[in-house]
Amino acid sequence: MEQTKFLLDENEMPKAWYNIQADLPKPLPPVIHPVTGQPIGPQDLAVLFPMELIKQEVSQERYIEIPEPVLDVYKLYRPSPLMRARRLEKALDTPAQIYFKYEGVSPVGSHKLNTSIAQAYYNKLAGTQRIATETGAGQWGTALAFACNIFGMECKVYMVKISFEQKPYRRILMETYGAKVVASPSTDTHAGAAALDDDPQCTGSLGLAISEAVEDAATHQPGTKYSLGSVLNHVLMHQTIIGLEAQKQFEKAGVEPDILIGCVGGGSNFGGFALPFVREKIINQKKTRLIAVEPTAAPSLTKGEYAYDYGDTAKLAPIVKMFTLGSSFIPPSIHAGGLRYHGMAPIISALYDQGYIEAVALQQNAVFAAGVQFARAEGILPAPESAHAIRVAIDEALRCKERGEKKVIAFNLSGHGHFDLGGYDAYFRRQLPDYEYPQAEVAKAVAQLPKVNVPA
Ligand SMILES: Cc1ncc(COP(=O)(O)O)c(C=O)c1O
Repeated sequence: MEQTKFLLDENEMPKAWYNIQADLPKPLPPVIHPVTGQPIGPQDLAVLFPMELIKQEVSQERYIEIPEPVLDVYKLYRPSPLMRARRLEKALDTPAQIYFKYEGVSPVGSHKLNTSIAQAYYNKLAGTQRIATETGAGQWGTALAFACNIFGMECKVYMVKISFEQKPYRRILMETYGAKVVASPSTDTHAGAAALDDDPQCTGSLGLAISEAVEDAATHQPGTKYSLGSVLNHVLMHQTIIGLEAQKQFEKAGVEPDILIGCVGGGSNFGGFALPFVREKIINQKKTRLIAVEPTAAPSLTKGEYAYDYGDTAKLAPIVKMFTLGSSFIPPSIHAGGLRYHGMAPIISALYDQGYIEAVALQQNAVFAAGVQFARAEGILPAPESAHAIRVAIDEALRCKERGEKKVIAFNLSGHGHFDLGGYDAYFRRQLPDYEYPQAEVAKAVAQLPKVNVPA
Protein backbone atom coordinates (compact mmCIF):
# COMPACT_ATOMS: atom_id res chain seq x y z
CA MET A 1 0.00 0.00 0.00
CA GLU A 2 1.28 3.48 -0.83
CA GLN A 3 2.08 5.52 2.28
CA THR A 4 0.49 8.94 2.77
CA LYS A 5 1.40 9.95 6.33
CA PHE A 6 4.96 9.94 7.66
CA LEU A 7 4.65 10.05 11.43
CA LEU A 8 7.04 10.25 14.35
CA ASP A 9 6.44 8.78 17.81
CA GLU A 10 6.22 11.23 20.72
CA ASN A 11 9.62 10.04 21.88
CA GLU A 12 11.12 10.90 18.48
CA MET A 13 10.22 14.57 18.95
CA PRO A 14 13.38 16.75 18.79
CA LYS A 15 14.62 17.68 22.28
CA ALA A 16 16.44 20.87 21.22
CA TRP A 17 15.72 23.82 18.92
CA TYR A 18 18.20 24.75 16.19
CA ASN A 19 19.82 28.18 16.41
CA ILE A 20 21.10 29.21 12.97
CA GLN A 21 23.13 32.07 14.47
CA ALA A 22 25.82 29.45 15.19
CA ASP A 23 26.16 28.72 11.46
CA LEU A 24 25.53 32.06 9.73
CA PRO A 25 28.45 32.96 7.44
CA LYS A 26 28.25 36.55 8.76
CA PRO A 27 26.92 37.57 12.20
CA LEU A 28 23.62 39.49 12.19
CA PRO A 29 23.91 43.30 12.20
CA PRO A 30 23.52 44.80 15.70
CA VAL A 31 20.08 45.82 17.01
CA ILE A 32 19.79 49.55 17.74
CA HIS A 33 18.06 51.32 20.62
CA PRO A 34 15.19 53.50 19.26
CA VAL A 35 16.06 56.44 21.54
CA THR A 36 19.86 56.40 21.98
CA GLY A 37 20.70 55.20 18.45
CA GLN A 38 23.36 52.91 20.03
CA PRO A 39 23.55 49.09 19.89
CA ILE A 40 21.08 47.67 22.37
CA GLY A 41 22.14 45.65 25.43
CA PRO A 42 20.30 42.91 27.36
CA GLN A 43 19.28 45.36 30.11
CA ASP A 44 17.53 47.62 27.55
CA LEU A 45 15.29 44.72 26.57
CA ALA A 46 14.63 43.52 30.12
CA VAL A 47 11.56 45.72 30.50
CA LEU A 48 9.91 43.83 27.60
CA PHE A 49 11.22 40.26 27.76
CA PRO A 50 12.39 37.75 30.40
CA MET A 51 16.18 37.32 30.49
CA GLU A 52 16.10 33.72 29.23
CA LEU A 53 14.49 34.87 25.95
CA ILE A 54 16.91 37.81 25.66
CA LYS A 55 19.79 35.33 26.01
CA GLN A 56 18.28 33.15 23.30
CA GLU A 57 17.91 36.21 21.05
CA VAL A 58 21.70 36.68 20.96
CA SER A 59 22.86 33.12 21.66
CA GLN A 60 25.53 31.58 19.42
CA GLU A 61 24.88 28.02 20.70
CA ARG A 62 23.86 25.72 17.86
CA TYR A 63 21.23 23.78 19.81
CA ILE A 64 19.18 24.94 22.79
CA GLU A 65 17.46 22.31 24.88
CA ILE A 66 13.66 22.43 24.97
CA PRO A 67 12.53 22.48 28.63
CA GLU A 68 10.52 19.46 29.79
CA PRO A 69 7.32 21.47 30.60
CA VAL A 70 7.39 22.89 27.03
CA LEU A 71 7.84 19.41 25.52
CA ASP A 72 4.94 18.29 27.67
CA VAL A 73 2.57 20.86 26.11
CA TYR A 74 4.02 20.20 22.62
CA LYS A 75 2.77 16.63 23.10
CA LEU A 76 -0.81 17.92 22.74
CA TYR A 77 -0.17 18.04 18.98
CA ARG A 78 3.48 17.25 18.18
CA PRO A 79 5.10 15.63 16.30
CA SER A 80 2.94 17.01 13.49
CA PRO A 81 2.46 14.81 10.41
CA LEU A 82 4.36 15.01 7.15
CA MET A 83 1.86 14.12 4.46
CA ARG A 84 2.27 13.16 0.83
CA ALA A 85 -0.34 15.03 -1.23
CA ARG A 86 -0.99 12.09 -3.54
CA ARG A 87 -4.46 13.25 -4.56
CA LEU A 88 -3.16 16.70 -5.45
CA GLU A 89 -0.34 15.09 -7.47
CA LYS A 90 -2.98 13.05 -9.33
CA ALA A 91 -5.21 16.09 -9.92
CA LEU A 92 -2.23 17.96 -11.39
CA ASP A 93 -1.07 14.89 -13.32
CA THR A 94 2.49 15.71 -12.33
CA PRO A 95 5.52 13.40 -12.09
CA ALA A 96 6.63 15.52 -9.07
CA GLN A 97 6.14 14.30 -5.51
CA ILE A 98 4.40 16.83 -3.26
CA TYR A 99 4.76 16.70 0.53
CA PHE A 100 3.42 19.02 3.20
CA LYS A 101 4.13 19.40 6.89
CA TYR A 102 0.81 20.08 8.61
CA GLU A 103 0.91 22.55 11.52
CA GLY A 104 -2.88 23.01 11.47
CA VAL A 105 -3.13 20.03 13.88
CA SER A 106 -2.19 22.33 16.75
CA PRO A 107 -5.21 22.97 19.02
CA VAL A 108 -5.19 26.66 18.09
CA GLY A 109 -4.93 25.86 14.38
CA SER A 110 -1.44 27.05 13.43
CA HIS A 111 2.32 26.86 13.97
CA LYS A 112 2.19 29.91 16.29
CA LEU A 113 1.75 27.68 19.36
CA ASN A 114 5.33 26.37 18.97
CA THR A 115 6.71 29.68 20.22
CA SER A 116 3.84 30.93 22.40
CA ILE A 117 4.24 27.91 24.70
CA ALA A 118 7.98 28.51 25.00
CA GLN A 119 7.57 32.26 25.55
CA ALA A 120 4.83 31.79 28.16
CA TYR A 121 6.96 29.19 29.96
CA TYR A 122 10.07 31.43 30.24
CA ASN A 123 7.87 34.34 31.33
CA LYS A 124 6.25 32.26 34.04
CA LEU A 125 9.69 31.18 35.30
CA ALA A 126 10.72 34.85 35.52
CA GLY A 127 7.64 35.78 37.57
CA THR A 128 5.61 37.53 34.84
CA GLN A 129 1.92 37.81 35.73
CA ARG A 130 0.54 39.38 32.56
CA ILE A 131 1.60 39.47 28.89
CA ALA A 132 0.60 42.10 26.31
CA THR A 133 0.76 41.38 22.61
CA GLU A 134 -0.65 42.31 19.22
CA THR A 135 -2.36 40.15 16.64
CA GLY A 136 -3.19 40.69 12.98
CA ALA A 137 -5.60 38.10 11.65
CA GLY A 138 -5.82 36.53 15.11
CA GLN A 139 -3.67 33.37 14.88
CA TRP A 140 -0.88 34.69 17.09
CA GLY A 141 -3.25 36.17 19.69
CA THR A 142 -5.07 32.85 19.88
CA ALA A 143 -1.82 30.93 20.36
CA LEU A 144 -0.57 33.26 23.10
CA ALA A 145 -3.98 33.32 24.82
CA PHE A 146 -3.93 29.52 25.12
CA ALA A 147 -0.29 29.40 26.26
CA CYS A 148 -0.88 32.08 28.95
CA ASN A 149 -3.88 30.13 30.15
CA ILE A 150 -1.80 26.94 30.42
CA PHE A 151 0.86 28.68 32.54
CA GLY A 152 -1.61 30.77 34.58
CA MET A 153 -0.93 34.32 33.35
CA GLU A 154 -3.22 37.11 32.14
CA CYS A 155 -3.10 37.97 28.43
CA LYS A 156 -4.02 41.29 26.78
CA VAL A 157 -4.31 41.28 22.99
CA TYR A 158 -4.36 44.37 20.74
CA MET A 159 -6.08 43.07 17.60
CA VAL A 160 -5.78 45.04 14.34
CA LYS A 161 -9.20 46.72 14.01
CA ILE A 162 -10.02 45.51 10.51
CA SER A 163 -9.64 41.86 11.68
CA PHE A 164 -11.39 42.55 14.99
CA GLU A 165 -14.40 43.61 12.94
CA GLN A 166 -14.13 41.01 10.17
CA LYS A 167 -13.12 37.99 12.29
CA PRO A 168 -15.24 37.93 15.46
CA TYR A 169 -14.71 34.16 15.86
CA ARG A 170 -10.98 34.60 16.42
CA ARG A 171 -11.71 37.15 19.14
CA ILE A 172 -14.22 34.79 20.75
CA LEU A 173 -11.68 31.95 20.74
CA MET A 174 -9.09 34.19 22.44
CA GLU A 175 -11.72 35.12 25.04
CA THR A 176 -12.54 31.44 25.48
CA TYR A 177 -8.91 30.89 26.49
CA GLY A 178 -9.29 33.79 28.95
CA ALA A 179 -7.59 36.68 27.10
CA LYS A 180 -8.76 40.30 27.09
CA VAL A 181 -8.99 41.55 23.48
CA VAL A 182 -9.34 45.15 22.25
CA ALA A 183 -9.45 46.57 18.72
CA SER A 184 -6.27 48.47 17.75
CA PRO A 185 -6.00 51.44 17.57
CA SER A 186 -7.55 51.59 21.06
CA THR A 187 -7.85 54.34 23.63
CA ASP A 188 -6.00 52.15 26.16
CA THR A 189 -2.60 53.53 25.09
CA HIS A 190 -1.11 56.87 24.01
CA ALA A 191 0.00 55.35 20.68
CA GLY A 192 -3.55 54.13 19.94
CA ALA A 193 -5.22 57.35 21.06
CA ALA A 194 -2.84 59.42 18.91
CA ALA A 195 -3.63 57.29 15.85
CA LEU A 196 -7.36 57.74 16.48
CA ASP A 197 -6.90 61.52 16.87
CA ASP A 198 -5.16 61.55 13.48
CA ASP A 199 -7.77 59.38 11.81
CA PRO A 200 -10.85 58.21 13.74
CA GLN A 201 -11.56 55.67 10.94
CA CYS A 202 -8.06 54.13 11.10
CA THR A 203 -8.36 50.35 10.44
CA GLY A 204 -5.05 49.68 12.17
CA SER A 205 -1.88 47.82 11.26
CA LEU A 206 0.41 45.30 12.89
CA GLY A 207 3.04 48.02 13.35
CA LEU A 208 0.56 50.14 15.31
CA ALA A 209 -0.76 47.22 17.38
CA ILE A 210 2.87 46.38 18.29
CA SER A 211 3.31 49.99 19.49
CA GLU A 212 0.26 49.61 21.72
CA ALA A 213 1.38 46.29 23.20
CA VAL A 214 4.95 47.52 23.79
CA GLU A 215 3.64 50.67 25.49
CA ASP A 216 1.24 48.57 27.59
CA ALA A 217 4.11 46.37 28.81
CA ALA A 218 6.43 49.31 29.47
CA THR A 219 3.80 51.17 31.50
CA HIS A 220 2.54 48.21 33.56
CA GLN A 221 5.68 47.51 35.58
CA PRO A 222 6.47 45.28 37.30
CA GLY A 223 4.63 42.14 36.30
CA THR A 224 3.76 42.74 32.62
CA LYS A 225 5.94 41.71 29.71
CA TYR A 226 5.57 41.92 25.95
CA SER A 227 5.56 39.02 23.53
CA LEU A 228 6.03 38.98 19.74
CA GLY A 229 4.77 36.14 17.53
CA SER A 230 7.33 36.40 14.74
CA VAL A 231 10.37 38.32 13.41
CA LEU A 232 12.71 37.90 16.42
CA ASN A 233 15.57 35.38 16.41
CA HIS A 234 14.25 33.40 19.38
CA VAL A 235 10.81 33.08 17.77
CA LEU A 236 12.27 31.62 14.57
CA MET A 237 14.40 29.30 16.70
CA HIS A 238 11.36 27.94 18.59
CA GLN A 239 9.73 27.23 15.23
CA THR A 240 12.66 25.11 14.01
CA ILE A 241 11.02 22.12 15.64
CA ILE A 242 8.97 22.02 12.40
CA GLY A 243 11.98 21.60 10.12
CA LEU A 244 13.84 19.30 12.53
CA GLU A 245 10.86 16.94 12.62
CA ALA A 246 10.49 17.20 8.85
CA GLN A 247 14.12 16.12 8.33
CA LYS A 248 13.47 12.92 10.31
CA GLN A 249 10.23 12.35 8.40
CA PHE A 250 11.85 12.79 4.96
CA GLU A 251 14.39 10.22 6.06
CA LYS A 252 11.54 7.82 6.90
CA ALA A 253 9.97 8.56 3.52
CA GLY A 254 13.35 7.86 1.87
CA VAL A 255 13.39 11.15 -0.06
CA GLU A 256 15.28 14.43 -0.01
CA PRO A 257 13.32 17.56 -0.90
CA ASP A 258 14.51 19.52 -3.96
CA ILE A 259 12.29 22.52 -3.22
CA LEU A 260 11.00 23.76 0.17
CA ILE A 261 8.30 26.43 0.27
CA GLY A 262 6.77 28.53 3.05
CA CYS A 263 4.71 31.69 3.26
CA VAL A 264 6.26 34.70 4.99
CA GLY A 265 4.66 37.39 7.13
CA GLY A 266 7.32 38.14 9.73
CA GLY A 267 9.21 35.00 8.72
CA SER A 268 8.72 32.53 11.58
CA ASN A 269 6.78 29.84 9.73
CA PHE A 270 9.15 29.81 6.76
CA GLY A 271 12.16 30.06 9.05
CA GLY A 272 10.92 27.26 11.29
CA PHE A 273 10.54 24.94 8.32
CA ALA A 274 13.56 26.01 6.29
CA LEU A 275 16.37 26.92 8.73
CA PRO A 276 17.51 23.34 9.46
CA PHE A 277 17.74 22.90 5.67
CA VAL A 278 19.61 26.20 5.29
CA ARG A 279 22.21 24.66 7.60
CA GLU A 280 22.61 21.83 5.07
CA LYS A 281 23.21 24.46 2.38
CA ILE A 282 25.76 26.36 4.46
CA ILE A 283 27.63 23.37 5.93
CA ASN A 284 27.16 20.62 3.34
CA GLN A 285 26.63 22.70 0.17
CA LYS A 286 23.23 21.07 -0.46
CA LYS A 287 21.43 22.54 -3.47
CA THR A 288 17.86 22.58 -2.06
CA ARG A 289 15.82 25.56 -3.32
CA LEU A 290 14.14 27.43 -0.46
CA ILE A 291 11.29 29.72 -1.52
CA ALA A 292 9.64 32.34 0.70
CA VAL A 293 6.22 33.44 -0.55
CA GLU A 294 4.66 36.81 0.27
CA PRO A 295 1.61 38.76 -0.94
CA THR A 296 1.97 41.52 -3.55
CA ALA A 297 -0.02 43.62 -1.04
CA ALA A 298 2.86 43.51 1.50
CA PRO A 299 5.97 42.63 -0.51
CA SER A 300 8.75 43.37 1.98
CA LEU A 301 11.32 40.95 0.48
CA THR A 302 10.60 41.51 -3.21
CA LYS A 303 10.00 45.29 -3.15
CA GLY A 304 11.34 46.50 0.20
CA GLU A 305 14.71 47.96 1.08
CA TYR A 306 17.34 46.09 3.16
CA ALA A 307 17.87 48.79 5.76
CA TYR A 308 17.60 49.70 9.43
CA ASP A 309 13.98 50.41 10.41
CA TYR A 310 11.70 50.57 13.43
CA GLY A 311 9.78 47.43 14.31
CA ASP A 312 6.62 49.44 14.98
CA THR A 313 4.73 52.56 13.94
CA ALA A 314 5.24 54.65 17.09
CA LYS A 315 9.02 54.00 17.03
CA LEU A 316 9.07 52.45 20.50
CA ALA A 317 10.45 49.05 19.44
CA PRO A 318 14.12 48.39 18.64
CA ILE A 319 15.56 49.32 15.23
CA VAL A 320 16.69 46.29 13.24
CA LYS A 321 18.24 45.70 9.84
CA MET A 322 15.63 44.02 7.69
CA PHE A 323 13.82 44.15 4.38
CA THR A 324 11.15 46.78 5.03
CA LEU A 325 8.34 48.73 3.43
CA GLY A 326 8.68 51.43 6.12
CA SER A 327 7.17 51.35 9.61
CA SER A 328 4.32 53.70 8.56
CA PHE A 329 3.00 50.95 6.22
CA ILE A 330 -0.79 50.47 6.49
CA PRO A 331 -1.87 47.48 4.42
CA PRO A 332 -4.89 47.64 2.14
CA SER A 333 -7.97 46.39 4.01
CA ILE A 334 -9.13 44.46 0.93
CA HIS A 335 -6.35 41.95 1.43
CA ALA A 336 -7.64 38.75 3.03
CA GLY A 337 -4.47 37.15 4.40
CA GLY A 338 -2.53 37.75 7.62
CA LEU A 339 0.85 38.32 5.96
CA ARG A 340 0.82 42.07 6.45
CA TYR A 341 3.83 43.14 8.51
CA HIS A 342 5.99 45.96 7.09
CA GLY A 343 9.29 44.17 7.73
CA MET A 344 10.91 40.75 7.60
CA ALA A 345 12.80 38.80 10.26
CA PRO A 346 16.49 39.86 10.36
CA ILE A 347 17.55 36.21 9.91
CA ILE A 348 15.38 35.73 6.81
CA SER A 349 16.45 39.15 5.50
CA ALA A 350 20.14 38.29 5.86
CA LEU A 351 19.70 34.88 4.19
CA TYR A 352 17.82 36.48 1.30
CA ASP A 353 20.45 39.19 0.96
CA GLN A 354 23.17 36.52 0.86
CA GLY A 355 21.36 34.41 -1.74
CA TYR A 356 20.54 31.33 0.40
CA ILE A 357 16.79 31.70 -0.16
CA GLU A 358 14.51 32.94 -2.95
CA ALA A 359 11.34 35.04 -2.67
CA VAL A 360 8.22 35.49 -4.78
CA ALA A 361 5.13 37.71 -4.35
CA LEU A 362 1.62 36.58 -5.31
CA GLN A 363 -1.77 38.17 -5.98
CA GLN A 364 -4.53 37.01 -3.66
CA ASN A 365 -6.93 35.55 -6.25
CA ALA A 366 -4.26 33.12 -7.49
CA VAL A 367 -3.59 32.22 -3.85
CA PHE A 368 -7.24 31.47 -3.03
CA ALA A 369 -7.56 29.45 -6.27
CA ALA A 370 -4.69 27.25 -5.01
CA GLY A 371 -6.33 26.97 -1.57
CA VAL A 372 -9.56 25.76 -3.16
CA GLN A 373 -7.76 23.32 -5.45
CA PHE A 374 -5.87 21.90 -2.46
CA ALA A 375 -9.04 21.62 -0.34
CA ARG A 376 -10.82 19.77 -3.14
CA ALA A 377 -7.97 17.30 -3.55
CA GLU A 378 -6.80 16.77 0.05
CA GLY A 379 -9.81 17.85 2.13
CA ILE A 380 -7.93 20.33 4.33
CA LEU A 381 -9.02 23.97 4.03
CA PRO A 382 -5.75 25.92 4.26
CA ALA A 383 -5.36 29.30 5.96
CA PRO A 384 -5.02 31.98 3.25
CA GLU A 385 -1.46 32.60 4.49
CA SER A 386 -0.54 28.95 3.94
CA ALA A 387 -2.26 28.95 0.54
CA HIS A 388 0.53 31.26 -0.67
CA ALA A 389 2.93 28.33 -0.29
CA ILE A 390 0.47 25.96 -1.96
CA ARG A 391 0.24 28.22 -5.04
CA VAL A 392 4.00 28.00 -5.53
CA ALA A 393 4.03 24.23 -4.85
CA ILE A 394 1.35 23.73 -7.51
CA ASP A 395 3.15 25.97 -10.00
CA GLU A 396 6.44 24.10 -9.43
CA ALA A 397 4.64 20.75 -9.84
CA LEU A 398 3.12 21.94 -13.13
CA ARG A 399 6.58 23.05 -14.29
CA CYS A 400 7.80 19.51 -13.51
CA LYS A 401 4.97 18.18 -15.67
CA GLU A 402 6.01 20.37 -18.62
CA ARG A 403 9.63 19.26 -18.27
CA GLY A 404 9.01 15.65 -17.24
CA GLU A 405 10.92 16.15 -13.98
CA LYS A 406 10.34 14.05 -10.83
CA LYS A 407 11.26 16.67 -8.25
CA VAL A 408 10.37 16.38 -4.58
CA ILE A 409 8.44 19.51 -3.59
CA ALA A 410 7.52 20.25 0.04
CA PHE A 411 5.67 23.08 1.71
CA ASN A 412 4.69 24.00 5.22
CA LEU A 413 0.93 24.12 5.70
CA SER A 414 1.14 26.56 8.59
CA GLY A 415 -2.53 26.51 9.59
CA HIS A 416 -6.09 25.62 8.74
CA GLY A 417 -8.53 28.18 7.40
CA HIS A 418 -11.66 27.43 9.41
CA PHE A 419 -11.80 31.00 10.72
CA ASP A 420 -11.01 32.44 7.27
CA LEU A 421 -14.20 31.37 5.54
CA GLY A 422 -15.12 35.05 5.07
CA GLY A 423 -12.06 35.39 2.81
CA TYR A 424 -13.03 32.28 0.85
CA ASP A 425 -16.59 33.58 0.56
CA ALA A 426 -15.34 36.91 -0.83
CA TYR A 427 -13.18 34.95 -3.30
CA PHE A 428 -16.13 32.84 -4.49
CA ARG A 429 -18.20 36.03 -4.91
CA ARG A 430 -15.37 37.65 -6.90
CA GLN A 431 -15.10 40.44 -4.34
CA LEU A 432 -11.35 40.15 -3.74
CA PRO A 433 -9.45 42.63 -5.88
CA ASP A 434 -5.87 41.86 -6.79
CA TYR A 435 -3.58 44.53 -5.45
CA GLU A 436 0.04 45.43 -5.93
CA TYR A 437 1.64 47.69 -3.32
CA PRO A 438 2.94 50.69 -5.34
CA GLN A 439 6.72 51.12 -5.69
CA ALA A 440 6.18 54.88 -5.21
CA GLU A 441 4.82 54.24 -1.68
CA VAL A 442 7.89 52.15 -0.88
CA ALA A 443 10.16 54.93 -2.15
CA LYS A 444 8.32 57.50 0.02
CA ALA A 445 8.61 55.35 3.15
CA VAL A 446 12.23 54.43 2.50
CA ALA A 447 13.12 58.13 2.34
CA GLN A 448 12.01 58.36 5.99
CA LEU A 449 14.01 55.42 7.33
CA PRO A 450 16.01 56.17 10.48
CA LYS A 451 19.66 57.10 9.99
CA VAL A 452 21.80 54.61 11.87
CA ASN A 453 25.57 54.64 12.17
CA VAL A 454 27.00 51.17 12.66
CA PRO A 455 30.42 49.97 11.63
CA ALA A 456 30.18 48.02 8.33
C1 LIG B 1 -1.49 30.43 9.36
C2 LIG B 1 -0.37 31.42 9.27
N1 LIG B 1 0.70 31.15 8.51
C3 LIG B 1 1.70 32.01 8.41
C4 LIG B 1 1.68 33.22 9.04
C5 LIG B 1 2.82 34.15 8.83
O1 LIG B 1 3.52 34.51 9.93
P1 LIG B 1 5.06 34.20 10.07
O2 LIG B 1 5.71 34.64 8.82
O3 LIG B 1 5.54 34.85 11.24
O4 LIG B 1 5.09 32.73 10.22
C6 LIG B 1 0.60 33.57 9.86
C7 LIG B 1 0.56 34.87 10.56
O5 LIG B 1 -0.25 35.14 11.38
C8 LIG B 1 -0.45 32.64 9.98
O6 LIG B 1 -1.51 32.91 10.74
